[in-house]
Amino acid sequence: MPSTPPDQPWHARFDAFVAAKTAQASAAILPPYETEIDAAADADLHPIGNAWTRKLYDGDFHVSAARDPDRPACSLVFVQSADGNTDARDPGMLGGGNTDKHLIYEGLSRVAADAVLAGAATARGRTTMFSVWHPELVALRSSLGLPRHPTQIVATRHGMDIEDSLLFNVPTVPAIVLTGADGADRMHQAAALRPWITLMVMRQPDELADAFRRLRARGIATISCIGGRTLAAQLLDARLVDDVYLTTAPRPGGVPGTPVSPHPWRGRVITRKHGTGPEAGVLFEHISTAGAAVP
Ligand SMILES: NC(=O)c1ccc[n+]([C@@H]2O[C@H](COP(=O)([O-])OP(=O)(O)OC[C@H]3O[C@@H](n4cnc5c(N)ncnc54)[C@H](OP(=O)(O)O)[C@@H]3O)[C@@H](O)[C@H]2O)c1
Repeated sequence: MPSTPPDQPWHARFDAFVAAKTAQASAAILPPYETEIDAAADADLHPIGNAWTRKLYDGDFHVSAARDPDRPACSLVFVQSADGNTDARDPGMLGGGNTDKHLIYEGLSRVAADAVLAGAATARGRTTMFSVWHPELVALRSSLGLPRHPTQIVATRHGMDIEDSLLFNVPTVPAIVLTGADGADRMHQAAALRPWITLMVMRQPDELADAFRRLRARGIATISCIGGRTLAAQLLDARLVDDVYLTTAPRPGGVPGTPVSPHPWRGRVITRKHGTGPEAGVLFEHISTAGAAVP
């Protein structure tokens, strides 16, 4: 991840961050995926893509509508090692490859999303902001009529260091913090100075379903949740996830015993693709959670 000097004002740090992420995405060599299974036509899905993404993804990418219209449609995007672990200091090191990182993760999974949602452990860090960076994806997002950057949503019980995190300090990028009363008390002063930040206090500390309904009422219709697995497992258990975009690396690795969720969650495979060239052995699946076992 690009780092920026801490003594610069936030707008200069943001400009440097955007320039570095854009350069990194533009320079990446992206071996295309090849399709093994495509059952998208059998399901009620919304296609997304342009000529550039269709060539690399081997067709349209798809998103489901929300099963419950009172909450946002929500997808989860994860990379796991061949032995099913998701936890790694840098998930890129799990071996999902460039196409997963730049086309799926920082790309198709969020290009049409109103918001990106992360657990506090995934969102922490001075230089973090979740968006799309490759010029083709920026153009696709713009063609969909969406703002340049998705709203940043972070779940935290204890609170985040708002003063010291890029994603809370760009006035043009709204941020929403899902938290409890104690967390809100801790962040109140810093948030009050930043009118683009909303503290959404959950009545019970773990009321994610209620928070989702309130997000929908605020106009957030689609969420791309990027994990980590602590947050992801709760969303899956609460039946708040419609699609899972899961990339499996060809080699074992990561922290042992860190699957996407400890409970069964897999529903129907909508799409299965594999990597090519230097990314041979990578497996990508779009899995619908509809019909998955209830934990
Ligand atoms: N392989 C992948 O695709 C992938 C994706 C994402 C992350 N990761 C990796 O996974 C690790 C982080 O995952 P993780 O499971 O440890 O953490 P996480 O899910 O990112 O964050 C957990 C934190 O989120 C907050 N939280 C969780 N549930 C909440 C709820 N119901 N209400 C309010 N806040 C809630 C809490 O924050 P507080 O402690 O602040 O209260 C909790 O400690 C990192 O190593 C990261 O690099 C991998």
